[in-house]
Amino acid sequence: MLEKIEQIRAEVQQLTATTPEEAEQHRIKYLSKKGQVTMLMDEFRSVPAEQKRELGKKINELKQFVQDKINSLKEQVATSLTSGPQVDLTRTPYPIPLGTRHPLTIVKNEIVDIFSRLGFTMAEGPEVEDDWHVYSSMNFADDHPARDMQDTFFIEAHPDIILRSHTSSVQSRVMEQSQPPIRVICPGRVYRNEAISARAHCFFHQVEGLYIDKGVSFTDLKQILLLFAQEMFGEKTQIRLRPSYFPFTEPSAEMDISCHLCGGKGCSFCKHTGWVEILGCGMVDPAVLEAGGIDSTQYTGYAFGMGIERITNLKYQVKDLRMFSENDTRFLDEFKSAY
Ligand code: PHE
Repeated sequence: MLEKIEQIRAEVQQLTATTPEEAEQHRIKYLSKKGQVTMLMDEFRSVPAEQKRELGKKINELKQFVQDKINSLKEQVATSLTSGPQVDLTRTPYPIPLGTRHPLTIVKNEIVDIFSRLGFTMAEGPEVEDDWHVYSSMNFADDHPARDMQDTFFIEAHPDIILRSHTSSVQSRVMEQSQPPIRVICPGRVYRNEAISARAHCFFHQVEGLYIDKGVSFTDLKQILLLFAQEMFGEKTQIRLRPSYFPFTEPSAEMDISCHLCGGKGCSFCKHTGWVEILGCGMVDPAVLEAGGIDSTQYTGYAFGMGIERITNLKYQVKDLRMFSENDTRFLDEFKSAY
């Protein structure tokens, strides 16, 4: 019995507890009705009389020891629960941190805002489109390379259904549904089958503009684009138009703005030319007007289209296109001060 007493004492000495439940388990194991110390006291009754004195003392000491140990464990876990960081419930709450607008949304809103002040209204169309609205109505020849698998995502079961590769499809829908005067701005996401890199992505965003009325001329186009460039990039911004080609406009042009980083003097950003390209534009091809149900003998129009990522890069010098779709809050937080 002496041995047993020593064994229990040694065991109890080692006990630890991190929760009140654990400490209670220890109490049950040693001190409950069937606990080891209680059992020992039962056994004590059958001990020969001459040993009773010594053993009785030892058992009582053990019981005291176990009780003290368990009480101190209970106290420990109880205090550790309240000894964490003190919470002041009367304090005014911390503000919940607000998210930021995505930089592309900020720039899109700015573009739409500028054009709405110039009398344009916003129009939107579906991202999953048919060939007619993306290509055929936009005067793309049947064998035009843009229709290729390399450029376009097709819906497998319906080769006629594709992900739009430009927002010009919205022009087509607006013309179908309304008659001039038409003055719309169409922002949206577009898809192209490109390998993802710092400079290309399989989806990006465009804003398309379309103006159709009697007597709309290239001069009107140039003037509106100059106003836009100066609103977006500053009053001193200059523009230049270079002849280009798009199936849906004739004549077509690409527009450069004077590099706003070096003011046109030439820097690494503009590859020392003093100019950076920002959009495509032109007079709506009569074939496109006719496809949209608009009388091309009465009306003329202009259209332009720009990449929102491109404009955002110019404004904020984002070096890697992938940043726009990674949702890294360290990047997004940098736009907190923009609106
Ligand atoms: N749709 C053209 C593109 O995706 C841009 C554009 C729009 C050009 C309207 C001219 C007129 O590159």
